[in-house]
Amino acid sequence: MSDDVREIKSRIDIVDVIGDYVRLRRAGNSLVGLCPFHAEKTPSFYVSQERQTYHCFGCGKGGDIFAFLMELERLSFPEALNLLADRAGVKLSPRSAGAGGKPAERQRGARAVLEEAGIFFRESLGGSGGEAARAYLARRNLDGGSSRIFELGWSPQSWDALSNRLKSLGFGEDEIVGAGVAIRGEKGVYDRFRGRVIFPVRDDMGHIVGFGGRLIDGEGAKYVNSPEGEVFNKRRILYLMHEAKRSIRERGRTILMEGYMDAIRAHLSGFSEAVASLGTSLTEEQASLIKRFTDLCYISYDADGAGQEASIRGMYILQRKGVDVRVVTLREGLDPDDALSAEGGAEAFESAIEKSRSLPIYHVHIRRNDLRTPGRGHKAREEILARLAGIPPLDLAPHLPGIAKGFGVLQHELQREIEARRRNASRRPAWESHDDEKSAIYAEGIGGASSVYIDDSGASERDRRARDLECAFCGLLWQHEELRSDFTCGDIMPYFEDEAAAGIVSALLSGDTPGELESRWRMMGDSNCMGRIARGNAVLSEGNLGSEHAAKLLEDVKNGAMKRRYESLRRIVLSEEASGEELMEYRELVKKLKG
Ligand code: UTP
Ligand code: MN
Repeated sequence: MSDDVREIKSRIDIVDVIGDYVRLRRAGNSLVGLCPFHAEKTPSFYVSQERQTYHCFGCGKGGDIFAFLMELERLSFPEALNLLADRAGVKLSPRSAGAGGKPAERQRGARAVLEEAGIFFRESLGGSGGEAARAYLARRNLDGGSSRIFELGWSPQSWDALSNRLKSLGFGEDEIVGAGVAIRGEKGVYDRFRGRVIFPVRDDMGHIVGFGGRLIDGEGAKYVNSPEGEVFNKRRILYLMHEAKRSIRERGRTILMEGYMDAIRAHLSGFSEAVASLGTSLTEEQASLIKRFTDLCYISYDADGAGQEASIRGMYILQRKGVDVRVVTLREGLDPDDALSAEGGAEAFESAIEKSRSLPIYHVHIRRNDLRTPGRGHKAREEILARLAGIPPLDLAPHLPGIAKGFGVLQHELQREIEARRRNASRRPAWESHDDEKSAIYAEGIGGASSVYIDDSGASERDRRARDLECAFCGLLWQHEELRSDFTCGDIMPYFEDEAAAGIVSALLSGDTPGELESRWRMMGDSNCMGRIARGNAVLSEGNLGSEHAAKLLEDVKNGAMKRRYESLRRIVLSEEASGEELMEYRELVKKLKG
């Protein structure tokens, strides 16, 4: 066990952690309550204060505080570690902090600036200069209580009010600019947010990462947000996720909206499982975030043409991650804020949710006119079929009858068309296979043999090989202790596709020994991780790979990740739906892959 883990465990009592979620009462040497992991009426969930473990006799789940939070909050090990370190007041050693020393420290510095800025904005809203902003919020039906709940603020009409406050608190200009709340201009540093109602944005762990500011009158962009960077990364953030995640888990669903105001209105109207993607169409990272908490997502975007078109791609991303996507249709021209604010809005919204369409059916629905028009019908069908081909067959099956009906064909005809496109999609670009053969140092044919360990029967050969590499790298770290100081989590984690493999790597790098991990997994009843190691070992021995191959192996993992990203971007670029950000990333990737 790493020192950090030991230190955290010595400072935190499992009874307090679990007590936040479960009502516990004494029963002999233990405490007992209703299990949070399965539905039950008589308590069979036991917590031992002496051993600092829990066990449910109903569903068999059990473990320590880490296992508890990982399971309940659906956190990865590093996330649970960060959360508990915060709670215990333990400063993590750089290696377990995840991204390596420097960036993590920078992030903490920026967070302090952001927290102080948030306080300043809230004070400004309450103060005498905040009158206009309070009046604006009142017009939009947000009273003082609601402003406090969502920590709303006001940035005064001033070029330096916030910067001055932060400087007086001891922050330097570099820190202030680095946190994104001020901008360095030719004549010096000036405040980014001026004359705007402020919405603080927190990540899913509740850490403040930035702000959005809405103009209340005059000229300018309607919203200004913190700049994209290490701390504020819109691709990975869903507004109000931290506030929503408990409801999402309890209700087994989330509602995805576009705007700050939509999400706030939803929470105020009782839909506390709502989150907002902040205007952008949904990214892979946001989709993964949703998948961590639920398998069912209702999408309620603005009911205008632009909203519809832009959101289709994001919806399919989510569906491909294995989240069941249903699309809520509001009356033309309304956004969820409008709809919920109307008389009887909450009931009407709930019934719109009940009437929602599954994603493929929705896609057919918005193309219904084209589908019926000779000439345009072909293009619409091709577009829909291409998307359907990306959905796992079992997820798609329930919708086939509806789609076939919309197409006006028989179900088996539809199925044949989809299968043809699936085969096409798995054909790889020519430049790539050549390259792969050159760099691959793992044995051929491992994919098939190792699939006894992990069920990836639905995955392509390519995905299987990517997993082989990741597992093999885990295997090397597992076998060779001396390797574990050669790498940092930040080097590795962003490139790993497989979550279990990434978790193993990060645990090993933060000092857990194989023995401890094995017993933890056994305690948690987790056979996935051991499966990854077994698969990795098989790959290693087949390819005769030893510790001297570690760097090369990791390079192959990274190359594979870049190529996968390249391909998914290429598909987006070809469909002419790429955002500016994505185009830039695409060009950079092409350069890297060629060089
Ligand atoms: P909307 O224009 O739908 O805003 O953009 P809204 O939330 O309904 O705002 P109100 O009700 O007019 O005040 C949706 C989201 O897109 C992002 C914001 O996150 C906004 O909430 N956005 C929009 C920007 O980042 N910048 C903009 O200029 C506009
Ligand atoms: Mn809107």
